[in-house]
Amino acid sequence: EKAGHKHFMSKEIAEQPTVISDALSYYLSSDGAGINLPEDGIDFTAFDRIVMVACGTAFFACFTAKYWLEQIARIPVEVDVASEFRYREAPIAPRTLAIFVSQSGETADTLAALRYVAGKADKIVTITNSAESSMARESDLSLPILAGVEVGVASTKAFTCQLTVLLALAIEAASQRGVLARDEVKTHLSALRALPGLINAALDLRDDIDAISQELAEATDVLFLGRGAIYPIALEGALKLKEISYIHAEGYASGELKHGPIALVDTHTPIIVFAPRDKLFDKTVSNMQEVMARGGKVILVSDKTGIADAGDDVWRTIEMPRVSDAIAPILYALPAQLIAYHTAVAKGTDVDQPRNLAKSVTVE
Ligand code: M6R
Repeated sequence: EKAGHKHFMSKEIAEQPTVISDALSYYLSSDGAGINLPEDGIDFTAFDRIVMVACGTAFFACFTAKYWLEQIARIPVEVDVASEFRYREAPIAPRTLAIFVSQSGETADTLAALRYVAGKADKIVTITNSAESSMARESDLSLPILAGVEVGVASTKAFTCQLTVLLALAIEAASQRGVLARDEVKTHLSALRALPGLINAALDLRDDIDAISQELAEATDVLFLGRGAIYPIALEGALKLKEISYIHAEGYASGELKHGPIALVDTHTPIIVFAPRDKLFDKTVSNMQEVMARGGKVILVSDKTGIADAGDDVWRTIEMPRVSDAIAPILYALPAQLIAYHTAVAKGTDVDQPRNLAKSVTVE
């Protein structure tokens, strides 16, 4: 049942090109020119803002989508973790679309948050891996992520499928609202269609990442840095590493480093920097230099040009394919998962059933 893999997590990481293809076939129209949504879909011109709520990894999917929906579709998005949202008595303005993301569709806090907005938001959409779940049933529209059964407690393929659906929604929103020209929509859609192939290429980095992970397994603290839509991926990388390897890890926005966390940096601290060669890259390089000047060991995850431009003081590098800004967060989720997985295997922890954790948190 693990299809030759040692752990479900490894199998589920490897399944990503296939399940993302499944999601794309469901959401991309057959002529490739647009996005199809089930039932009545979503009329994005009917909303002035979006509220997105989830827990854990699903929350990081929402946080990534905030960047997409704001930058690509120009809609203001508020994101929050469900355990906070459900009690903070947030006022819900007219013309609000509420989106909940949950692999299981049964997470107690997310379900309570959904019930809080019922009757207040104009439309409730759930993005889930379980069409029969409570959240799917209580929503106006349920969008499947088509990831297939996810057994590992650490979410992997559900995360990248959630991101794929959310990016498709952002493109659809931009197109409906007339924010993107038709050829820009086309460019985004062809980038989406290229995803499975690119994810396969990222999976080829397994051995390189395994080698680096042997060294990471010795660390007691690891920092993950990212900027823009990659910042949530840094947060996800830190969560994944904590969950399954029990190494203390923190994710930070690269620009926040000097506001505190740099005090942690010494010669024992690996700092994993997710930095595709985008328009913010030079800023990230200067953050990296601050870390290296203090003896920090930087592991740079970037593309060929990024690695060439980063200089020789970088401790280790992981060379990713060059990709468009919009799909970079989905692709950079792969090294985040693989680093956590191989580090945990090197440490000998129980990867699929980490201590103290449950796959689905149905109690508060
Ligand atoms: O089923 P859900 O997506 O609502 O679950 C949310 C979180 O409990 C879940 O993502 C958790 O953080 C995972 N263990 C992350 O790997």
